[in-house]
Amino acid sequence: MENIICVPLEKYEGIGTGGENEHTWKITSVIGEGVSGTVWQACSTITPSLQARDTTSSKYVLKYIPLEHASWRPGGGSKDTDGVNRRLERKREKSKAVIKKEIGIQQAIAKFDMAVPIIDSWFCETGGVIIMRSLKQTVESLLKEYKSDYVRHLIIGVCLGMVAKLQRFKYYHGDAHLSNIMVDYSDEDEKLALEAETDEKKRYSLYKYKYYFIDFGRSGNFPESDAEIKGDYVGILSGLTKLAHNDDSFLPMIVFLRTYISSFTNPIFPKE
Ligand SMILES: Nc1ncnc2c1ncn2[C@@H]1O[C@H](COP(=O)(O)OP(=O)(O)O)[C@@H](O)[C@H]1O
Ligand SMILES: [Mg+2]
Repeated sequence: MENIICVPLEKYEGIGTGGENEHTWKITSVIGEGVSGTVWQACSTITPSLQARDTTSSKYVLKYIPLEHASWRPGGGSKDTDGVNRRLERKREKSKAVIKKEIGIQQAIAKFDMAVPIIDSWFCETGGVIIMRSLKQTVESLLKEYKSDYVRHLIIGVCLGMVAKLQRFKYYHGDAHLSNIMVDYSDEDEKLALEAETDEKKRYSLYKYKYYFIDFGRSGNFPESDAEIKGDYVGILSGLTKLAHNDDSFLPMIVFLRTYISSFTNPIFPKE
């Protein structure tokens, strides 16, 4: 392990506290605060071994997922608190297992090129930490940027295709709303796109967006679970519904998606 910063840091204005090699990771600003975790923009004083694993970018994010019942302290307590401590420790272990599962699934899906690989991860006293490459933009914000139905349909089409591809590998995401799908693009492509005329179709194609799922906290495999085949499609629909609250130009796409989803009535991997 390259780092031992324990987050949340008391003050996260720079380098983390404690550990053998606390200069490896720095966190700068909070960029996302979800239900399960907090995400910081992070950077690395790139070490040769890290560089070997990820040469594509020097911008990272650090996702911190608190353990449930993190108030447990090792070796604490008198005789009658021992039982309580044991129970809390079991919950901590369960909670750790959930985070390990999230890491494992993200790593698996990264192999299909639908997630960014986790390049470092560790547990600290209060939670689990995941380091991955920083992506540029959520699909939710992308859809707000493009006003044309043509481009919006392209974007939703890619998201639906990703769900289908995931299902071919027998995975489901479990929380596939539009802030859990992100896009990446290179700085050069962005420059070209910004210099181009304002035609949205053209601009979209110049960016050469690459789509990734993030946030695998509720993901799993189809044969092991009761998850329904339409679950992730419904996730995308709920993301669109949220956008339609403020912008009714999204309504026709909702109608289209509802019709599309209603064609999935049965799971494709039925139980024996
Ligand atoms: N790799 C990443 N690059 C850039 N931003 C990210 C990345 N991962 C997460 N984020 C941002 O942080 C937010 C919360 O992260 P997420 O993994 O979805 O946590 P939660 O489980 O709390 O929803 C995302 O919606 C996104 O805005
Ligand atoms: Mg999320």
